[in-house]
Amino acid sequence: MTTALDRYAVFGNPIKHSKSPQIHSLFAKQTNQSLSYTAELAEPDQFNDAVNDFIEHNGKGLNITVPFKEDAWSCAKKRSQRAQRAGAVNTLMLQQDGTLYGDTTDGVGLVRDLIQNHNIALADKDILIVGSGGAVRGVLEAILEKKPASLLIANRTKQKAVQLAEDFSDLGNIFGCGLDEIDERDFDIVINGTSASLKGDLPSLPKTIFRKNSSSYDMMYSAQATPFMLWSTENNASLVFDGLGMLVEQAAESFFIWRNVRPETQPVIKLIRKQLTIT
Ligand code: ATR
Repeated sequence: MTTALDRYAVFGNPIKHSKSPQIHSLFAKQTNQSLSYTAELAEPDQFNDAVNDFIEHNGKGLNITVPFKEDAWSCAKKRSQRAQRAGAVNTLMLQQDGTLYGDTTDGVGLVRDLIQNHNIALADKDILIVGSGGAVRGVLEAILEKKPASLLIANRTKQKAVQLAEDFSDLGNIFGCGLDEIDERDFDIVINGTSASLKGDLPSLPKTIFRKNSSSYDMMYSAQATPFMLWSTENNASLVFDGLGMLVEQAAESFFIWRNVRPETQPVIKLIRKQLTIT
C-alpha cells in the first residue's frame, strides 16, 4: 500500500513568484524527506477555509506570506512565544490533536543570515531599522535577543515606530522616531524593513547614517541591487546585502519545525542567487 505524501505549501496573494516551493524541494532532497510543497493562491475572504481544506487533504504544515500572517496568527490554537508577541505567524504546523501550532521564523532568518552567513555580530552594536510594518515587528525580538547596544526604529509615520518600540521595550534598549528625526546619528548596522524597494522606491534617510565599517541590509531581494542597496553603497556603507539569505534561513527554520531536521542553507542560497542573476 502506498501512503500519501505529507503535503506542505505557502499561502499568499500574490504567490506566483514565490521561491518557497523550490527552496523546500531542495531542502527535502538534501535531507531525504518525502514530501510535497506547493504555492497556493488564497483569496482574502476564504483564507480559513483554504487552510482547513489543505489540512483535510493530508496537509501537515504551511508557510504564510502577505497578506495573511495576521489571519494565520488567529488560526493557530497554540503559538510560540515569539509569534505571540509578533502578532503574526508565517509557519503553521498540524499538531497530533488536529489543531494548528503557529510560529514566526522571519526574525531567526534575518539574524542567522547576518551573523552566520555574513559574519556580522549584533551584540553591542548600534542598529537602525527603517519601517514599522509587519515585516519589522516580526524581527525585533530576534534582534534584541542578540543584545545590541541600541536599536532605533525610524518610520515615515513616526507614531507607528514609537508604538513598536514601546511594545518591545522590556526586551532591550529600543527607541522609535520619525525618519526626519534621525538627524546626525550614525550606526553600525542599518536594516531596511520598509516595502519601498517593492516599488523601486527608497525611504528618505540622512546621508550620514553609516559609520566606518557599517553594514547595510535590505530585507527585500532582487536580481539587481535594490534602490536602498545602491544608495547605501553611494553613502559609504562598507558591506551591503539583500534579503535572499533571510528568505532561505526563515524557510530552513520552518522546515526544522515541521520535520525536525535542519537543512544546510548555503548550497540553496548559492543556487537561488545564481538563478536570479541569469533570469
Ligand atoms: P509589511 O507587512 O511588508 O511590513 P506594511 O505593514 O504595509 O508592510 O508596512 C510597510 C512599511 O514600509 C511601513 O513602515 C511604511 O511606512 P508608513 O508606516 O509611514 O506607511 C514603509 N514604507 C513604504 N513605502 C515607503 C517609502 N516610500 N518611504 C518610506 N517608508 C515607506
